[in-house]
Amino acid sequence: MDHLLSQGQERDELFQKAVELRNQFYGHRIHLRGLIELTNHCARNCYYCGIRHDNQGVRRYFLTDGEVMQAVEFARKHHLGSVVIQSGEMQGEGFVRKIGMLVKEIVRITQGTMAVTLSCGEQTEDTYRRWYDAGASRYLLRIETANPDLYTRIHPAGYDWRYRVECLHHLKQIGYETGSGVMIGLPGQTVEDLAHDLLFLKNLDIDMGGIGPYVEHAQTPLFAYRDTLRSPKERMELTLRMIAMLRILMPDINIAATTALQAVSGEGRIAALQAGANILMPNITPKYYRDAYRLYDNKPGTDQSADDSLLAIEKMAALAGCTIAYGEKGNSRHRSNRNTINGLSNSASAATGSC
Ligand code: 5AD
Repeated sequence: MDHLLSQGQERDELFQKAVELRNQFYGHRIHLRGLIELTNHCARNCYYCGIRHDNQGVRRYFLTDGEVMQAVEFARKHHLGSVVIQSGEMQGEGFVRKIGMLVKEIVRITQGTMAVTLSCGEQTEDTYRRWYDAGASRYLLRIETANPDLYTRIHPAGYDWRYRVECLHHLKQIGYETGSGVMIGLPGQTVEDLAHDLLFLKNLDIDMGGIGPYVEHAQTPLFAYRDTLRSPKERMELTLRMIAMLRILMPDINIAATTALQAVSGEGRIAALQAGANILMPNITPKYYRDAYRLYDNKPGTDQSADDSLLAIEKMAALAGCTIAYGEKGNSRHRSNRNTINGLSNSASAATGSC
């Protein structure tokens, strides 16, 4: 736990160690995921999230198939090896079919050269399986916090922390590269909670980590607690140390420099790369919709086109002394290493070290 509060030289050494380990597995190379924010319609009412169902102030949208495929074409043209389809949480056969159809189309049109990640919330095991069979190979579902009591406090009654954990197990069993993570600086969250978060992610044996600061949103219930929060700078510092610690605990996983970091500091994502992260996610959602997918206030890049977003990311990588690995899917080494250890067939990429 001490490392999460480290300062000065100790902090520098922590980050140095994390970067060394990152470089051991991934070199100074950053992999990109083109982020497509498919829809801000959401059935949930999470107390922290700006696109929660009951927020009347949101202009709701759903990208057309054409808009999604245009974004995919942008990703293909710019040699992004993977895209993430992220959405509010929706249920129902129509939504399940729509996602399955989009995944199939992306795989078909890119001839399987582009990895498709989904981040569409809690779904049934059957739905996860259908999307996997359609060609999605990765899934992101943050646990948000490994403390069930804190989870209860930041969600309406009936939102079941254990079911969310079950979802993560389903995803792993089906065969997805599975990503999870937490928010840092939630009201009432302690440093001890954060230490448990790290152990939770380690025990779950995730392939990808996404850790970002909690950022308040004025049209959400948690905004009432804004005066009790750690300062943005403190949240950023804690997030960076969490990233570094996660890298040290799980050196071969993919770790994102998350966009929320940029909302608390202009240098946030560069700092994350300097603390051991190896993934950046340029937003390639059509510009017109960017502002409507506002999970938290000060979301950066809402006025940027996909081209601008990519340029900004290239600059960040360069400033952190990294290069971008264009044209590679950027699979989690953790996944291929685990499969090699278990003697599974997926050992080709592990053996050659190819991405
Ligand atoms: N601040 C930071 N992150 C947020 N998310 C949702 N709302 C906020 C917020 N106010 C994160 C959650 C979710 C992911 C898609 O966005 O961790 O899993």
